[in-house]
Amino acid sequence: MSTLRSILVVDDEASIRESLDMFLREKGYAVRTAGSGAEGLALWTRHHPQVVVLDVRLPDMSGLEVLKKIIAKDPEANVIIITAFHDMESTIAAMRQGAYDFLNKPLDVDELEQAVSRAMRMNEALHRSPALSSPVQDFPASQRLVGRTPVMRSIFKTVGLLARNRATVLIEGETGTGKELMAQVIHQSSLLGEQPFVTVDCTTLVENLLESELFGHERGAFTGAIEAKTGRLELAGEGTIFFDEIGDLPQTLQAKLLRFLEYREFSRVGGTQVLRSAARIIAATNHDLSELVRRGRFRQDLLYRLKVISILVPPLRERMEDIPEMVEYFVSRLNRELGTRVTRVEKGAVAALTAHAWPGNVRELKNVLTKAVLDSRGAVLLTETVQAALSSHPHRPASKPLPPLGEMERERILGALTATGWNLSATARALDISRPTLRKRMSRYGLPAKGA
Ligand SMILES: Nc1ncnc2c1ncn2[C@@H]1O[C@H](COP(=O)(O)OP(=O)(O)OP(=O)(O)O)[C@@H](O)[C@H]1O
Ligand SMILES: [Mg+2]
Repeated sequence: MSTLRSILVVDDEASIRESLDMFLREKGYAVRTAGSGAEGLALWTRHHPQVVVLDVRLPDMSGLEVLKKIIAKDPEANVIIITAFHDMESTIAAMRQGAYDFLNKPLDVDELEQAVSRAMRMNEALHRSPALSSPVQDFPASQRLVGRTPVMRSIFKTVGLLARNRATVLIEGETGTGKELMAQVIHQSSLLGEQPFVTVDCTTLVENLLESELFGHERGAFTGAIEAKTGRLELAGEGTIFFDEIGDLPQTLQAKLLRFLEYREFSRVGGTQVLRSAARIIAATNHDLSELVRRGRFRQDLLYRLKVISILVPPLRERMEDIPEMVEYFVSRLNRELGTRVTRVEKGAVAALTAHAWPGNVRELKNVLTKAVLDSRGAVLLTETVQAALSSHPHRPASKPLPPLGEMERERILGALTATGWNLSATARALDISRPTLRKRMSRYGLPAKGA
């Protein structure tokens, strides 16, 4: 093996091969190029380059095939996938099969260089345990995470990497951002995806029941325990146990869960036998757990235990670019599920959806679209149908966003003016601001100098 840092570039487009060749040579790498999967594999076998830059669409086979073959021979190979596809499946599939990184075309050369040098460093420094490989599973329609914004793509990468291990995961995000769906995708795409996925909703169960739900109980453990009961932890087997709304877990159970996470052992309520669990733990919350820790409502040590890997799902309003794709996805899914036949979406409809703030996030978007699709008569989802659905939809988000500051200030000033009978001096005093400031604010908010 040469000591020069070598790279193999596999891409069917000659122009990409040439420009990458030139660019990477300039950076001091020894470069070989191949235009097909077979040629690439032959070069890889002969020269064993430290890093492979691999296109997905190749004339003779899929780049993912090539990746699979390389990884089968050398689980520690560093392969950077480059592709014009932006979908979740190939990203997750590639990361799960052991790709080192996944970059989208058109290539950003700086990004590529960074990925290459990281992979080189990895190659030099890291002694990795062999990657496990598993057959690519298809994601059922109900378990697709739509999104192509950079933040979502990086989440897909994490999910793909998680498929290779059993690490505990904490998923944080506002209501309706897709936390539960993400937990299911992590479970489905992991090696033990056939095992049970068991949910524990920490909000709905009262404390002593939650404990027996979780750990199970023996017959006669407490009044009413007529039969022995298998707890959720046992039911999960080697699958996944999903703690939904972990922030609502009562304090006493927090201590018990912590102990379980440390030793992976538990006993049924009223039982003496020590049971072990190999289940993967995923927890989700729409609270800010650090804030709950500060307020003494959540144990810091438990937070650390849960946060081995943490995924922060951003609210929909921070990834509005995902909306058009989500609209397509939900509309065609709704067509299948509801038997509707909406084949087009008017541009204005998408624009109206993109203008909304989505406090209820993806769930709210889905609800609005469901209403709109059901209200549609023809093949086109019209702007006005969407607008009507937007203004009438009953969804009340759990976490209502605060009104804009200006609006709050205006309300406050108006309230004080009304209370003082529009006496400006008294109002200014009540609000602890000067009279000129009060006047300025009043004119800014269009409040008349005298009450009606
Ligand atoms: N990226 C996405 N692609 C497709 N569907 C999504 C996506 N994100 C969320 N959804 C859908 O939106 C709905 C809400 O998602 P989910 O129940 O996972 O949210 P959540 O974060 O658990 O919300 P909550 O905190 O209120 O429990 C589900 O129907 C889910 O399938
Ligand atoms: Mg949820």
